[in-house]
Amino acid sequence: MCGIIGIIGKDDVAERLVEGLRRLEYRGYDSAGVATIHDGAIERRRAEGKLANLVKELDRDPLPGTTGIAHTRWATHGAPTTNNAHPHATKEVALVHNGIIENFKALREELTARGRVFDSETDTEVVAHLVSELVEQGISPKDAVAQVLPRLHGAFALAILFRSSPDMLIGARLGSPLVVGYGDGETYLGSDALALAPLTQRIAYLEEGDWVIVTAGGAEIFDRDNNPVERPITISGVTGELISKGNHRHYMLKEIYEQPVVVAQTLRSYLRRMEDQVSLPVPDFDLGAIRRVTIVACGTSYYAGMVAKYWFEQFARVPVDIDVASEFRYRAPVMEDGGLMIVISQSGETADTLAALRHARSEGQKIAAVVNVPTSTMAREADLLLPTHAGPEIGVASTKAFTCQLAVLAAFAANLARAKGRLDGKAEKELVRHLAEAPAALNAALAYDESIEAMAHLVAGARDVLYLGRGPDYPLALEGALKLKEISYIHAEGYAAGEMKHGPIALIDDKVPVIVLAPSGPLFEKTVSNMQEVQARGGKVVLISDYDGVQAAGEGCIATITMPKVHPLIAPMVYAVPVQLLAYHVAVAKGTDVDQPRNLAKSVTVE
Ligand code: F6R
Repeated sequence: MCGIIGIIGKDDVAERLVEGLRRLEYRGYDSAGVATIHDGAIERRRAEGKLANLVKELDRDPLPGTTGIAHTRWATHGAPTTNNAHPHATKEVALVHNGIIENFKALREELTARGRVFDSETDTEVVAHLVSELVEQGISPKDAVAQVLPRLHGAFALAILFRSSPDMLIGARLGSPLVVGYGDGETYLGSDALALAPLTQRIAYLEEGDWVIVTAGGAEIFDRDNNPVERPITISGVTGELISKGNHRHYMLKEIYEQPVVVAQTLRSYLRRMEDQVSLPVPDFDLGAIRRVTIVACGTSYYAGMVAKYWFEQFARVPVDIDVASEFRYRAPVMEDGGLMIVISQSGETADTLAALRHARSEGQKIAAVVNVPTSTMAREADLLLPTHAGPEIGVASTKAFTCQLAVLAAFAANLARAKGRLDGKAEKELVRHLAEAPAALNAALAYDESIEAMAHLVAGARDVLYLGRGPDYPLALEGALKLKEISYIHAEGYAAGEMKHGPIALIDDKVPVIVLAPSGPLFEKTVSNMQEVQARGGKVVLISDYDGVQAAGEGCIATITMPKVHPLIAPMVYAVPVQLLAYHVAVAKGTDVDQPRNLAKSVTVE
């Protein structure tokens, strides 16, 4: 989603601002812009589309100035045009904004009635006018911002530039993250530490309601009641190196290939291999008191939660509710004492998931957060932080975060089972052994990359594709369909294989490829029966199974993809690989923008 960077520098900053934006590109955006102060005036350059267009603007008309702000915009209010691109500016003030100002209509009417003229259709521009209006009356930038912030409803991260104070920026956050970076005689603002990685590793994370005055010498931070506060400076550990594509053509492919290593890395925090035991990074959390689990997440993270529901119920015999985060609060969920909410989120910032977390907390639930960004808002607000160690995920389509989430959730379910007296030493040892096999099995699954590439054309020409699975492979079918639609733009649906004959089977004809996920195991026979129902109606099946499964049921399929034979516990992790690779190769065959698919954002910080 939108990205922010601000620099108070020693030299001209435009080039470094654009470099920062480049590092934020992965979040998804459709226009971009930069503003600096030069010769006592605010100047800006903006462009719709990719950053290359902004760079052309800057080449044509360079932007000097040692203090500046920049933004990548993912359109919410108003089309992705140059006029709607940030920074929004008046003569006195320029600002960039992530989030949504929910009361912007009322504010805009109020400002228009006072004669202010708007240039854009955005919600953001009201903030520029509100601050500017006060500054024009002679009120200091600091007091102007302090007066305006309480008037804004919704979610925001802001970085504001003032013509009258060229050596200062003001930042603010509520609902959308913002960090301060401390350099050598320079200070920065960024929507995440990644944007600032080439500039500094010394980062302070603003808390909800904080705002900050940034100068070259440092930062003065205030809480929502305007009291000066200290926020610790941490070393982010994010380096420029981490986000190179290496030898891969796309970030997505690199991240698919990283899975054996990052899953192993993640499991290391949750397994004690020497003792054959599962463990948690926070050992003193009282798991025995948990009577019910509610899982809430969005998109791919939600599908990881769907798989985990099987594990929690099977191992720990604890009832599990699961909701898409955007729906959770609106069905008046009943939450009782002894309830644990598990939020699952790669970014740890997804607005709907965060709102669900806060709602559950207000209803007395304990909160566990399975997140990939340990400094994220969810990580900071949870009682029990369960990090995935996937490293930065840059491809918009989530891959390695998913398999790492599964690894954490399987280990967590086992911990809960043990705390509930449902897992004896022998069963625990077995479980640890199977989980520990996951990295090697993921590696073995990657070996089929070329054969998946070779059959991708069978899917690339389709208009519609179905994915079928049963049990924990049903969420995998949903995940496969999501991956395919988001990066190849082919319409795809995932179904529980047994549900086909209750309606969707009417869609079957020889133009709809049906991808069947059927690892050997207790549900294999039933899945194959459903697959045969499809074949009997002329459906073209691609079977993904292990060698035994392909031998038993591969005949009559248009293609088969052979996976290593694995224990059912780790099958959802291993079968994620072929669905990711299939979507990837189909997208490459279709020539789409794999890493930044149209209309999508990486971290969805608006509801
Ligand atoms: C799909 C995808 C999205 C995210 C979803 C939740 O490939 O990436 O569906 O899974 O937006 O994001 P997080 O996990 O950051 O909360």
